[in-house]
Order: sequence, then C-alpha cells, then structure tokens
Amino acid sequence: MSYIRSGALAETGYVLLDRYDQSRDPEEWLDLEYVDWRSSGVTRFAPLTSAFGELECDGFWNHTPPRTDKDGVWVRRNAERAPRLRSRAEEPGVNIGRCRVIELQPNSYASALRNQHQDDNNRLNPDGSGWIVRAFFNLSDDRESVLVLREDRADPSTESRIPLPAGTQVIVDTQRLWHAVWHVGTAPRYCLITSWESGPLLDAYIERHHGTSRVESAPVDARLQADAQAELERRLEERARATRRSTARTRKGARRSTGIAPG
Ligand SMILES: [Fe+2]
Repeated sequence: MSYIRSGALAETGYVLLDRYDQSRDPEEWLDLEYVDWRSSGVTRFAPLTSAFGELECDGFWNHTPPRTDKDGVWVRRNAERAPRLRSRAEEPGVNIGRCRVIELQPNSYASALRNQHQDDNNRLNPDGSGWIVRAFFNLSDDRESVLVLREDRADPSTESRIPLPAGTQVIVDTQRLWHAVWHVGTAPRYCLITSWESGPLLDAYIERHHGTSRVESAPVDARLQADAQAELERRLEERARATRRSTARTRKGARRSTGIAPG
C-alpha cells in the first residue's frame, strides 16, 4: 500500500492555479479572531477549523485522541464571519484538515531562509489514504513578496520563488518541500492555508483551475541572495556541530552506564 497522491504535484511538489479575483470579495480576514501562534516568523493565526472547533491552532496529533490532519471541525465564530473563505476551502469537495488565515509581519530574505521548514501533515495518516497537501490563497496584495520553496533546504539551485499578488492560489506538498515566505512591505500579509486530502476530486479541481507545476521564479538580488545563503549555511553548520556534541555526550553516558569500554 502507499498513499494516493496527486500527479500534478509529482514533478516539482507544487502547482500554481489560475489567479482568483480577490478584489470582488469583502476582506473577511480582517473580521476574524486571531490567536498568537508563532510559526516561521512573527505570526498570528485565525483558525477556521481546528481539531474540535475551539479557537486554537495546535496540530490534530497533539490532541486526545491524536489524529492526522483531516476532519477539521469548523470554528463557528470565525467560519461564520468568513463565508467566502469557507466556501473556497470547500470548493474541491475533499477532506479538510486545518484551515486558517495566517497573518505574517514583514521579514527579510535571510529570515525566510532561516524559517524554512517542512510540515508534518501526514503524521498518523493511514497508508492507502490520500496524502495531505496544503493550499495557499494569498488574500492581501503582496506582489513584492514570495513563497520560497526548496527541495533541499541548503541548496539554492533547488529554489522556486512564487510571487504573491492578491488572488495567488498555490497548492504545495509541504511535507516534501522546505518552505517559508519572504514578506516585503510594511503591512502584514494574510493568506488562507488549508490542508486538503489528495485524490481524484483534488485532481479534478487542479485541472479545472489550470494547474501548472513550473513557475518562473521572481528575481532576487544576487548579492542579497549570496549573503542570506552564507548566513543559512553558517547556522546549519552550527546546528550540526551542536547535534554532534550532544550525540557524543549521550554515547559517553551510555558507555558509562553499560560499562562498555570504547573499542
Ligand atoms: Fe508550513
């Protein structure tokens, strides 16, 4: 057995859909209740769903009983204030896990590289079911900002930078790709992020919205990129050294407790 995955995401790990006309909709995200929740920068989140419909953002696997990122329960007081956002999340007709609006304060390219992470959407997801991916719908108009995606966190040649004007719709296998947003500007960025289960319904939705798996990366100043990359490499090396030191300490402790002499 293995997971059901979307062929559209196989090549690059992401797919960009037709741009949505965000200007027609009310700015529902400004009416939501946000909670402080740090993730990849200075952020707050307004949950539209959560594990049990409470106004909180924890991974469903951290609840009792723990479960995977599916079957999100609508948080009434936010979902009622954002009917357009809810209907956009429901449009493909697939299982929805976490669904929330992120508010991100401006940051730098270097901090975006530092903030790169992979998600844990498929923890406890039973083999044979649909692989969970995440939709990013940019709500505010952030045309100078980019979603930074890397196949290999440390390798800039694997990077894609997707520009984020209002209405950008991108689906990402966030458990495969390292990701973070470089948000340029003075006002916060708002984006609807929804966990969706892969399967034929999601494939049909991607096709209806003309999904494309290759986007020309937004340009970045070469000097700025080199400096940010050097800082990232320094940090990764520091972290690797700290891990080696702590592994060595653990081994030494184990030898002492078992009485095994070094070979
Ligand atoms: Fe993430």
